[in-house]
Amino acid sequence: MTTITCIDDLKALYQRRVPKMFYDYTESGSWTEQTFKSNETALQRILFKQRVLVDLSQRSVASTLLGQPVSMPVALAPVGLTGYQHADGEIKAAIAAARFGVPYTLSTMSICSIEDVAAKTSAPFWFQLYVMRDRDFIRRLIQRAKAAECSALVLTVDLQILGQRHKDIKNGLSTPPKPTLKNIINMVSKPRWGLGMLGTHRRDFGNIIGHVAGVEDTGSLSEWTRQQFDPGLNWDDVAWIKDLWGGPLIIKGIMTPEDACLARDHGADAIIVSNHGGRQLDGAPASIEVLPAIKAAVGDRLEVLMDGGIRSGQDVLRALASGADGTMVGRAYIYGLGALGEAGVVETLNILRNELDLTMAFCGRTNIATVSGDILWS
Ligand code: GLV
Repeated sequence: MTTITCIDDLKALYQRRVPKMFYDYTESGSWTEQTFKSNETALQRILFKQRVLVDLSQRSVASTLLGQPVSMPVALAPVGLTGYQHADGEIKAAIAAARFGVPYTLSTMSICSIEDVAAKTSAPFWFQLYVMRDRDFIRRLIQRAKAAECSALVLTVDLQILGQRHKDIKNGLSTPPKPTLKNIINMVSKPRWGLGMLGTHRRDFGNIIGHVAGVEDTGSLSEWTRQQFDPGLNWDDVAWIKDLWGGPLIIKGIMTPEDACLARDHGADAIIVSNHGGRQLDGAPASIEVLPAIKAAVGDRLEVLMDGGIRSGQDVLRALASGADGTMVGRAYIYGLGALGEAGVVETLNILRNELDLTMAFCGRTNIATVSGDILWS
């Protein structure tokens, strides 16, 4: 096996080890994938100022997110179907995040349930909420997240309706995967993945199946989303959710200063500047491009996180210097998980932290708290 030194190495191994339909699910944006691609390229256009002859012998990238200490200002983003990327994937990722000292966010559309993850981890994790038409289910889901002592609720607000991802439709992506000849060939050609899946009973949406009356399997993902997700969700619902939850509320999917101010006025403790990894509104700018204006609009009144295109510690630093208090990473840790399981997620985080630490140092800073826009060429 080649020595792993960067996120791209993990991505290459991930592609070799995981069935194509799940790799494609990760590596997709909506329609032309313009926004998906620009998340990465816009970050790469941001250039650092190299500074020299600064004493770099003592350095720290430790910080806090929502008042909690973190080993670096990065959290694992909610990613649907993580338990298809690796057997018990959500549990593995949550354990890796806890070992490393960063928050893990469990998606509503996870394979392992809230209870599965809570039973196997001791560190509190964040729970990401999608709002469905069945409000009783949502009420129970929030209660379940409270019972599991989740430390923040991440309300995703940019997926009431689903952006079209061509590959998922062409692959017939569904839960559980359909036993078509193409899928079977694809799955048996990934023996390591297949053996893992044979060893777990967690193979369908753990938060949903058995918890929503009449839903025994979800079938086609795009069709199920269309039927169940509430397209009527609006700002008035935020108060209901905040009230039911009663803890720290993070609103994910903010892309304008106007919506950032609305989130603040509706009681969010933090926002995530996000275009959903380029999977929803194709033609939206990269998240990093709107981050400075959003930060300027809300100031320090709430925490501002950002996701989209983070593939290196340099990218984390670019986001921090552009006004973020922290970043989420999604695809980067899914590569690690699919490649090497729990150890691969730890490897992702190690790579990001080392790159973040050294890049910060090359910019002449020794403490992440002192990073600001003046480390960048404008
Ligand atoms: C769900 O969050 C997705 O982007 O597929």
